[in-house]
Amino acid sequence: MQLNNSKSRAALDVARGDRRWSLSLGDCRTLLARLPDASIDAIITDPPYGMNYVSWTGQRVKNDGAPFVWWLGEVDRLLKDDGCLFCFTIQQVQEDWRRAISWAGLKIQSQIIWDKCVHGSGDCKRQFGPQHELAWFATKKGYGFPGKRPTTVIRHSRVHAVQRLHPTEKPVDLMKNIVESITEADDVVLDPFAGSGSTGVACVELGRRFIGCELVEEYVNVARTRLRKAKP
Ligand SMILES: C[S@@+](CC[C@H](N)C(=O)[O-])C[C@H]1O[C@@H](n2cnc3c(N)ncnc32)[C@H](O)[C@@H]1O
Repeated sequence: MQLNNSKSRAALDVARGDRRWSLSLGDCRTLLARLPDASIDAIITDPPYGMNYVSWTGQRVKNDGAPFVWWLGEVDRLLKDDGCLFCFTIQQVQEDWRRAISWAGLKIQSQIIWDKCVHGSGDCKRQFGPQHELAWFATKKGYGFPGKRPTTVIRHSRVHAVQRLHPTEKPVDLMKNIVESITEADDVVLDPFAGSGSTGVACVELGRRFIGCELVEEYVNVARTRLRKAKP
């Protein structure tokens, strides 16, 4: 799917400081290729992990058949010299993501555990109830935490299944915790896989600028509605 020029212009306006947020409909690889070098402070994202996820209502995530790592080739170019990447993943494919992020030229600094406080389903006879997801935190050379050092376990309840606007929606409070601990006010945050827009809402509420992209029109509409309602 092609992004039209006016959509990528909005993203450029955010990078320049003329807008607070933009959300483009389309393939993130097209948007990323149009963003200028060293225009992004942090990439905070929840990509298709590559695990053929199916929700309890039968919904799937696009491009989730194998780890969708192809966008990572642009991250070193897009991030400022003191930039960072926070990328969710899951245990089954964590090594694929670690290798791809390192190959993209960033230094893996930490693995983060998101404790969802309650466990999900799976094989009840043989598997521990899955209660966490993972993330890789990676940086360019000049990065340093803006405030207090965060720790590797983050506890936040997941969004209850009946309240979800997206099959793999991340809670805004979780995203605010991450945005606040790794970025500063007015930083430019990019989420190439915005889904229902939780990263963007967290950014707007915390006074960060936000550039997002999402392939599915239904989610773009949901995310834009949430972003318009978000209060700094
Ligand atoms: C794991 S979900 C993100 C959910 C999001 N964190 C939220 O809180 O709603 C990944 C999203 O990436 C989108 N996606 C898949 N391939 C894409 C691509 N090439 N470009 C942009 N978005 C894509 C999917 O449609 C899906 O909504």
